Amino acid sequence: MLNTISFIGGGVMAEAMIQGILAKRLVLPEHVTASDPRQKRHQELQDLCGIRCTADNRAAARASEIVVFSVKPQVLGTVLEELRGQLRPEQMVMSIVAGARIATMREALQHDAIVRVMPNTPAQIGEGISVWTATQGFSEEKLGQARDILQALGKEIYMEDEKFLDMATAVSGTGPTYVFLVMEALIDAAVHLGFPRHIAYELVTETMRGSIIYAMRSGKHPAELRNLVTSPGGTSAEALYQLEKGGLRTVLSKAVWAAYERSKFLGGSVGR
Ligand SMILES: NC(=O)c1ccc[n+]([C@@H]2O[C@H](COP(=O)([O-])OP(=O)(O)OC[C@H]3O[C@@H](n4cnc5c(N)ncnc54)[C@H](OP(=O)(O)O)[C@@H]3O)[C@@H](O)[C@H]2O)c1
Repeated sequence: MLNTISFIGGGVMAEAMIQGILAKRLVLPEHVTASDPRQKRHQELQDLCGIRCTADNRAAARASEIVVFSVKPQVLGTVLEELRGQLRPEQMVMSIVAGARIATMREALQHDAIVRVMPNTPAQIGEGISVWTATQGFSEEKLGQARDILQALGKEIYMEDEKFLDMATAVSGTGPTYVFLVMEALIDAAVHLGFPRHIAYELVTETMRGSIIYAMRSGKHPAELRNLVTSPGGTSAEALYQLEKGGLRTVLSKAVWAAYERSKFLGGSVGR
């Protein structure tokens, strides 16, 4: 159970987290505060979640034991400046801001207790996966609270070393983009064959969903599952030949590596 939690930035991700932690009864609505510049957003969040809202980031940060930074990366610098020296040592800062490094936040805030998280978009429906790390010195209880909050967004994986956050940005943070592109390409291919678009959509999404659940439940390596459906001279073998010839594996590997390099590069400027 959390005593109090504040969100600096009351957008899409903050709303997903608030709804998740309220649904899990981790905190009472009256102990949740969100700060956001727009009055209309205050009304929306109050109507939806029954929480307290303000336009004053400092007041929101003062109000709670846990302060979640949920603004866009380009706004973080302003927020850090505003909150510099305002936090009590025992408060936990949890940042979900893509690319924002612990050292940048620590220096800007003059605050040591920081959790950095890389969530992904399915978090919006509680089906995300977050990779996170934390500065030294948190008690097991505090780390448990961080874990509970992140579980409201789906699965979570703690990594001791912050370097894994850039890697996670490339794999799971950017990951939905790869999946959506493959989904789109397969739907277009089915339409090319002659299926009406809505049927093409259903065939592809259900095939992807079923294959993923099957792979996860079977516990088998994907190559083994693929071999099981690749009969000699059959359709899978023919399709695989074209996928390999087109360099699909290499393209995916290069894409993930490029996203990783980009994440490291952008991380140098977020919050500054
Ligand atoms: N969306 C995702 O699935 C996802 C996935 C991974 C990571 N993230 C990270 O999560 C963070 C939030 O993303 P989001 O999608 O929730 O963005 P969002 O919907 O734009 O939410 C940000 C909120 O912050 C408000 N805001 C702007 N300036 C502010 C200020 N100075 N002080 C306080 N609040 C301010 C915005 O108000 P206005 O709209 O009026 O400007 C908006 O309501 C980002 O840093 C992103 O990198 C998001």
